Amino acid sequence: MQIQSLLVARFKAALKSMNAESAPVPISKSTKAGFGDYQFNGAMALAKQLKQNPRQIAENIIQNVDLDGVVESVEVAGPGFINIHLSKQWLAEQVKACLICEDLGINKTKQQRVVVDYSSPNLAKEMHVGHLRSTIIGDAVARVLENLGQTVIRQNHMGDWGTQFGMLLAHFSDKLENQTVAKTALSDLEEFYREAKVRFDSEEGFADRARDYVVKLQSGDAQCLALWEQFIDISISHSEEVYKKLGVSLSRDDIMGESAYNPDLPVLVKDLLDREIAQEDQGANVVFLPELADKEGNPAVYIVQKTGGGFMYSTTDLAAIRHRCGNLGADRTMIFTDARQALHFKQTEIVGRKAGYIPEAHQYQHCPFGMMLGKDGKPFKTRTGGTIKLVDLLDEAVERASALLKSRNPEITKDALSEISKTVGISAVKYADLSKNRTTDYIFDWDSMLSFEGNTAPYLLYAYARIRRIFDSAGEDLHSFEKDITVEHDVEKALAIKILQFEDSLISVAKDASPHILCTYLYELASVSMKFYEACPILKDDVAPEIKQSRLGLASATAKTLQKGLSLLGIETLDRM
Ligand code: ARG
Repeated sequence: MQIQSLLVARFKAALKSMNAESAPVPISKSTKAGFGDYQFNGAMALAKQLKQNPRQIAENIIQNVDLDGVVESVEVAGPGFINIHLSKQWLAEQVKACLICEDLGINKTKQQRVVVDYSSPNLAKEMHVGHLRSTIIGDAVARVLENLGQTVIRQNHMGDWGTQFGMLLAHFSDKLENQTVAKTALSDLEEFYREAKVRFDSEEGFADRARDYVVKLQSGDAQCLALWEQFIDISISHSEEVYKKLGVSLSRDDIMGESAYNPDLPVLVKDLLDREIAQEDQGANVVFLPELADKEGNPAVYIVQKTGGGFMYSTTDLAAIRHRCGNLGADRTMIFTDARQALHFKQTEIVGRKAGYIPEAHQYQHCPFGMMLGKDGKPFKTRTGGTIKLVDLLDEAVERASALLKSRNPEITKDALSEISKTVGISAVKYADLSKNRTTDYIFDWDSMLSFEGNTAPYLLYAYARIRRIFDSAGEDLHSFEKDITVEHDVEKALAIKILQFEDSLISVAKDASPHILCTYLYELASVSMKFYEACPILKDDVAPEIKQSRLGLASATAKTLQKGLSLLGIETLDRM
């Protein structure tokens, strides 16, 4: 159910009948009680354009708009606002429809093929906190898009290629010579990288061997490739461990690492040169971008092949977008990396469009995010200043949740504690990240993310578990509850409206790649539901049976929406807490 779009469509039709179909249709949720549930604020602008009285125009719109059955009343307020009061009966019917329909009745008709490029860690090292945001924000957006009926193609653009592999492979082969098992040698990638780097910087002859490995790797030497494959495979399994802990929907099939584009890179550069989009400049092949000229008017330079023949991160991204548009038939590409890569993607898009790799209608979106900061406001690091491994961070989250839950409920059994703390700990970390505006930096703070109050995962999990408990006490099944609903009390009305705004919130998430919109929505839903139990008792003895049924219906729709919304954020609910 989309209240917003329904109202927009009805007002659009009204404006059309008044020969004003090009007028904008600004419908918004009312922010103050007494101004109705929604407002139409377009009469003033239209009046100005037509040089007429805005209140009169608003009256005319009301005459023309067909909202029969949907509203209780519509009135003009102030200089020409139209306040819309939704009908309680209509709301009750819509909530009932949500209960009956598959998947809460979400419309899945809009078909688009969307490539979502996310997570994309560099396999030379362990996944670190920088990849946490990309992984969970990208995953949530992918799930929301799918839930709206889009075809989502996940692309894990792993960094599995590059000169650093020369150094790593040289070190790796030495370890294997010394009879160390591959898995053991790479059990700690961070440590392994450090060792290799020290040797590269200080050991006689090692740097030359490393360079030798790069040449062999690039020329496709079979032995060297086998070694590289072994390395990559173990490194991927480290990432998979993180994905499993996080409950992320990426699989091996979604991996399309940088190396996958290798054969295409010389072909692509030749194509750009042949068509004079790229040109040789001081031994390198570059594309000049006058669109991004500096103050003196010098065009920006986008290098596609270095002097000496090496290809770049940029070349791979051009090959990637050509593949995605050309072979995968994507209508839209969304790439999740931190904001520091913004210029790279801007340039890639310009070149990709110039070369025709990105068709005009294709939507190419770099979805940047801000940094995760420590409590001191500085980039998030270990106490000694090192990068924090994602695995360690997640383990700490579970430990902290466990201590917290135990202090809240000393009686809890060991099994329950272990299960519940896993969900609470991991979801707290995910939710803290997802609930912040994507583009700004955010402070990582254990205490606030694990709090049972405020816009946090524990609060929402608790809100869901609370409804479960009500249903258990009532001896009813939350998931197959389909009784009639009546909306009487103001809080019931507020709750019904909130429930019905779910799809609107998903559409906003999909449009802006911003899961925090869904988080805010779920938090508001949970908050209204708490007010609802206070104002509208369900299980008290003096509640009439049909009122009890109706309120259980509202509670069931609330719980199902919370559960669905959380699952789209990659968070599983708990039946008890
Ligand atoms: N591996 C890169 C990094 O860690 C992110 C890749 C993002 N995707 C892309 N198509 N460039 O920074």
